[in-house]
Amino acid sequence: ASTLGAAAQQSGRYFGTAIASGKLGDSAYTTIANREFDMVTAENEMKIDATEPNRGQFNFTNGDRVFNWARQNGKRVRGHTLAWHSQQPGWMQSLSGSTLRQAMIDHINGVMAHYRGNIYAWDVVNEAFADGGGGGRRSSNLQSTGNDWIEVAFRTARTADPAAKLCYNDYNIDNWTAAKTQGVYNMVRDFKQRGVPIDCVGLQAHFNSGSPYNSNFRTTISSFAALGVDVQITELDIQGASAQTYAAVTNDCLAVPRCNGITVWGVRDQDSWRSGDTPLLFSGNNKKPAYDSVLAALNAA
Ligand code: G3I
Repeated sequence: ASTLGAAAQQSGRYFGTAIASGKLGDSAYTTIANREFDMVTAENEMKIDATEPNRGQFNFTNGDRVFNWARQNGKRVRGHTLAWHSQQPGWMQSLSGSTLRQAMIDHINGVMAHYRGNIYAWDVVNEAFADGGGGGRRSSNLQSTGNDWIEVAFRTARTADPAAKLCYNDYNIDNWTAAKTQGVYNMVRDFKQRGVPIDCVGLQAHFNSGSPYNSNFRTTISSFAALGVDVQITELDIQGASAQTYAAVTNDCLAVPRCNGITVWGVRDQDSWRSGDTPLLFSGNNKKPAYDSVLAALNAA
């Protein structure tokens, strides 16, 4: 196959990208995005601050721009993200305790109702674990509502849209030996044992010199999969975009049957949140060597 999406489909997988609503008027951007990718994540437009700017007042204008572009072009959509310590609107930042807990539940219900039946997978909870060596939860206003906030989010989400796969999504959980990876692994294992509804783990896979790709990534993917969840690489970008590293990441996913899709976090280097890192698969209109290595890996699967 000659595009990333079609090549991934040969093994029943998808290949997606983050899309920014503000770029949908850029025909060079949409031409590449439409040709190459078969899954879409809104880069910012379905986050809490975008979708509920005032408590109880939902706004899906930009989320729908991304959603409708994807659907009009035959692509599926990953929802990102419902409960997160970051990009909270001011009103939510100022809440605590049971009021915040209820606001989280109401937010999940409001957003998932709008897209009910139309989202392939939701990142229900994003980045809830702490960096560093402790392996525990990140301190945040949501964590302060009680350690059960994550399972409450997942139970709420299952009821709100039973058709969506429900994912836990985080960064720096790629290295199998990292405490953070083990912390998330233990939570997912506990959820599966206790019947908390979780269907997938999103490994963001933002690689740079500070948190480089590690060859034990495949062990991480297969270990999560062995718990009985799908694994998705959800926000892939690699500082410098080494063709070899991009191929290694792709092959790690392809080696595990339950790793069922890869999403890169933007189309062209100029679209990346990591300005100056040239971490993506396109430079302007041009395919980079990393693009060729990913396509070849997908076609060899
Ligand atoms: O839209 C406003 C604009 O009106 C304003 O003038 C401008 C001035 O700062 O800000 C614009 O908003 C920015 C937004 O991106 C849209 O460009 C925010 O400041 C900026 O913080 C925001 O950054 C996003 C970041 O998440 C915020 O946490 C990045 O685009 C987005 O790529 C990034 O994505 C995250 C994932 O959601 C979770 N995992 C990590 C990943 C990378 O940080």
